[in-house]
Amino acid sequence: MGFGRGKVILLGEHAVVHGCPAIAVGIERGVTAEAVTAERDLLRLSPWDLALGPNSNGYEPLERAFAAALAMYPSRPPLEVSAKVDLPAGAGLGCSAAIGVAVLDAIDEVLGVDRSRKALAAAALVWEKIFHGNPSGIDNTMSAIGGVALYRKGDELRPLHSNKPLHLVIGYSGEPSSTKEMVALVDRQLENDRERVTKAFAGIEVLVRNAKLAIEAGDHVALGQLLDLNHTLLSSLMLCTTKLDDMCQAARRAGALGAKMTGAGGGGCMFALAPKRDEALRLRDVLGEGSFVAEVTA
Ligand code: MEV
Repeated sequence: MGFGRGKVILLGEHAVVHGCPAIAVGIERGVTAEAVTAERDLLRLSPWDLALGPNSNGYEPLERAFAAALAMYPSRPPLEVSAKVDLPAGAGLGCSAAIGVAVLDAIDEVLGVDRSRKALAAAALVWEKIFHGNPSGIDNTMSAIGGVALYRKGDELRPLHSNKPLHLVIGYSGEPSSTKEMVALVDRQLENDRERVTKAFAGIEVLVRNAKLAIEAGDHVALGQLLDLNHTLLSSLMLCTTKLDDMCQAARRAGALGAKMTGAGGGGCMFALAPKRDEALRLRDVLGEGSFVAEVTA
């Protein structure tokens, strides 16, 4: 069975596309996939009831991504891959990358290809590029490798260590968004007002560096404050919605140590950092339908 996990970016999204570091965690929810030899190439996706073939000029990014994935295996029999997606799409949890990782992992398994999770992450970047044009690589890397880690484009992933688990509550705004469009929105701002955006990125980088220290020291109060500040900087880049702001405020009022949007923004998900597991469960009730708790250990 192939598996690609979802991810939550704790701090640093968008700035990471432009070379700054970011901190992300892999979560347990993700995508499982199974590949079998068949009469023709086919990708099935549940629960969406989708079945599509590979098409390198296809209209659907999934068709093009599937074609690019299959092209990585030069001599092979036709394959049918069935993927089960347990993540909301367009929600900032790395759904497209997790599908790519799971599909490649499943194909590796049926063809007896033996490669490390790191190599799998690198292969899945081809898939991500079809969805997002200019991905930083954080989604596919965290999807394949998981844990809590500092990521910078072009560098080795640096796992962070702490003996204190992070209790996260992830809330979905119900507003789908497109990573490609949100990355392009930031690109346009960078073109029109380089100084303002570069300053925001520099601020985010400082928050990421401090958050690394806070995670390693188990100082979740400090980490929560850094999350709030990162949310504000992302708002200044017009990436937050009223719904995401309201959800973050509600979580803070209900006792979260910090809360922020995560991923591309413009909708999608936010998350809150809870001091303890039982408080995470309480925050989940505050954030309502579709929210869930993820406990991650650095
Ligand atoms: C998307 O999950 C995170 C972004 O920083 C894009 C990327 O890193 O490729 C918005």
